[in-house]
Amino acid sequence: MRKPILAGNWKMNKTRDEVIQFTLAVTNRLPLNVECIVCAPAIYLRDLVKRSPDNLHIGAQNMHELDSGAYTGEISPIMLKDTGVEYVILGHSERREYFNETDAKINAKIKKALEVGLKPIICVGEKLETREAGKTNELLESQIVKAFEGVNIDNTENVIIAYEPIWAIGTGKSADSKTAEEACGFIRSVLSKIYSENVANEIRILYGGSVKETNIAEYMAQKDVDGALVGGASLKPESFIELCNKSA
Ligand code: PGA
Repeated sequence: MRKPILAGNWKMNKTRDEVIQFTLAVTNRLPLNVECIVCAPAIYLRDLVKRSPDNLHIGAQNMHELDSGAYTGEISPIMLKDTGVEYVILGHSERREYFNETDAKINAKIKKALEVGLKPIICVGEKLETREAGKTNELLESQIVKAFEGVNIDNTENVIIAYEPIWAIGTGKSADSKTAEEACGFIRSVLSKIYSENVANEIRILYGGSVKETNIAEYMAQKDVDGALVGGASLKPESFIELCNKSA
């Protein structure tokens, strides 16, 4: 059984006061049968780790692929681990697009995250023109194959994939649940080819892109969708609580 996941991606939002208010507001109100995660700006991670209730797990939104060194402004996986962070989003489309992250870079980060004991939430997804050209599966396969090149998966619970069509992120135009299911099912079939059917059946695959309280249930009802990565709608504690409860 794949345990459902509801992961909030706060992106570059919130003040420290708002972060603390959030932890207080969600305490005792999150379901135990869902892995509830918030991926926060790095500067708030320590506060979150210290103040969050037990069933709210904490993730970062990015990391460098090296342990330490002369990389001004970067945050290393060792630092995240040391801070008590459990998860890290890797390869988000905003990082691919605005910070020139390549598949090779993302692959190196995935290997490093697993090596230090962080659980990567690996994002893949197509632009609108790729979908319109009928090349979505080709792109998804290429992103998955490159992301997992040389990656040993010892524990399938520690690897999470998020299918996030770029045209659905922050646009209010979510993919319908059938489209999400097709893509997540396709990603599972690619994992099955790379690893095995068992491994593919155990890895959690999330949908992301304009998920909100009113459409989460449709995604969760799909066979191959194991949860959601949620941006905008994860910011307010009341919405986050509702999203988590509806993911159970
Ligand atoms: P959105 O963002 O829910 O605001 O569309 C999703 C994401 O970028 O992870």
